[in-house]
Amino acid sequence: VAPLKVGLAGLGTVGGSVARLLQKQESNAPESNVLATRCGRPVKLVAVSAKAEAEMHALGIPGLRFVPSPATLAADPEIDAFVELMGGAGDPAKSAIEAALSAGKPVVTANKALIARHGVALATLAEKHGVALNFEAAVGGAIPVVKTLREGFAGNSFERVYGILNGTCNYILSRMEGEKLSFADCLREAQRLGYAEADPTFDVEGFDTAQKIAILASLAFGVQVDPDAVFVEGISSIMPEDLEAAAELGYRIKLLGVAVRTEQGIEQRVHPTMVRLDSPLAQVMGVTNAVTVDPAGFPPITLVGPGAGGAATASAVVADLADIARGLRAAPFGRPTEALIGSRRAPMQRH
Ligand code: NDP
Ligand code: HSE
Repeated sequence: VAPLKVGLAGLGTVGGSVARLLQKQESNAPESNVLATRCGRPVKLVAVSAKAEAEMHALGIPGLRFVPSPATLAADPEIDAFVELMGGAGDPAKSAIEAALSAGKPVVTANKALIARHGVALATLAEKHGVALNFEAAVGGAIPVVKTLREGFAGNSFERVYGILNGTCNYILSRMEGEKLSFADCLREAQRLGYAEADPTFDVEGFDTAQKIAILASLAFGVQVDPDAVFVEGISSIMPEDLEAAAELGYRIKLLGVAVRTEQGIEQRVHPTMVRLDSPLAQVMGVTNAVTVDPAGFPPITLVGPGAGGAATASAVVADLADIARGLRAAPFGRPTEALIGSRRAPMQRH
């Protein structure tokens, strides 16, 4: 059976992990290649783009072709699908994805900044050309939350979606509390481990969570994707004394992203929140993420899993590629059907 031939732009933390995961499956004996078995065909990395060709050679994967320009790779006639893992809300990521979609190539990206800003226009372009634009890795790391909201409850409406959506912040808060380490030391370690964004301000000031909750809110409620309509407060002003005081009162401080239905419309907010020590979210420590979805008529459902880092994110990227290899297209994205409001609620409230 013909393989799905993949072109990949960006060989950093996530891109390198995706390349290695695809190569690991490819080099397995056919009966152990679970990816090919599940897709009914192999998924093969054939070409990459990076700032320097040496990055491709460092992967040690034989037979790869180097294409210096991401946009040229995206439209390359030899590839069947394009994976964007360079990051950033603008070019070169945006123009490369546009080039791929316009050439009729399905796209996978982990780029929540780009999806939060331009996801609707890109999804429209994807629909016009009849190809997939998949972004499972943009929210919740390895947790299949995008698929859960996009397809899992097709016949249900949602009341709330909320959770711990930034691995870096949860890692910092967990280690500050558990090991009494300083904020700066914890952040440095999160960067070393590949959890943080290229500019970690996005993590610690809550903007990364805002982008993610805006994407989830759009999927859950059918509102426009608007990270600027999210009330945002990050964790950079949280002191060890705050964590201790919360514990004395029976709470733990978590950075939550929340999207909730109100009488005025869908409200979105991101802020440090006191969660009861005996609640499920309080048990979520380290780089782990947790997302609770609240389909109308059911008790809430919480999904928990690794939220950041190369391996966790690569797993979601490869799952998106598997859908493409099987010829699946996800539900439409970003067609507003409900009103969105900004949030005026005070931070640090109980949840
Ligand atoms: P990295 O910074 O580790 O990797 C990005 C890579 O893209 C770098 O090697 C960078 O090169 C390269 N790059 C930048 N511009 C170009 C260009 N013009 N041509 C070719 N290569 C280029 O980031 P991550 O791997 O951590 O993140 C990638 C994407 O995945 C981002 O959108 C991020 O938000 C998202 N993501 C990351 C997660 C994580 O845990 N790390 C989790 C979920 C999503 P150079 O370093 O030389 O600039
Ligand atoms: N910087 C992000 C985080 C990566 O820490 O959650 C995963 O989206």
